[in-house]
Amino acid sequence: MKYPVAVSVNGRAYRREVEARTLLVDFLRDHLGLFGTHVGCETSQCGACLVTLDGLTLKACTRLAVQADGAQVTTLEGLLVDGNLHPVQSALLKECALTCGFCASGVVLAAKECLERKPVAGEDEVRRSLEGVFCRCTGYQPIVDAVRSLAAAPVRDLRDGATAEL
Ligand code: FES
Ligand code: FES
Repeated sequence: MKYPVAVSVNGRAYRREVEARTLLVDFLRDHLGLFGTHVGCETSQCGACLVTLDGLTLKACTRLAVQADGAQVTTLEGLLVDGNLHPVQSALLKECALTCGFCASGVVLAAKECLERKPVAGEDEVRRSLEGVFCRCTGYQPIVDAVRSLAAAPVRDLRDGATAEL
């Protein structure tokens, strides 16, 4: 038996029919073709499947697609605005902070949420925000440095006479 799901993803409305057991992460990938959200463990440990659901950042392998009915979802793809990367993505790129990129969805969305909560987050806060996001390649330090470069932006940009936007 299939159930209807109507959901807004990255500002675009979708209607699909899914089995009750379909995970949100599988829905995004297999039904909507949004492959920026990765499947790692499917047991809520690795964070590769992070998305934002009605403003809450969560692991999409912990939700059923039917639970997202009527919700607004943002995935990694939704952070692009007019072809421009989100500042967190730009900072990671600039610092060469990721290698294989499998963890990108988790890292970017967790860091974004961290900086939205606290624009001048310290190293401990940045590291805490990345708990539950596994990166097998980098040892985390380049990621933390890249995010911290944004956290320091208001101070740096004030000195330069510019305004920081996150
Ligand atoms: S796939 Fe969801 S936390 Fe690993
Ligand atoms: S860059 Fe490869 S898992 Fe993070």
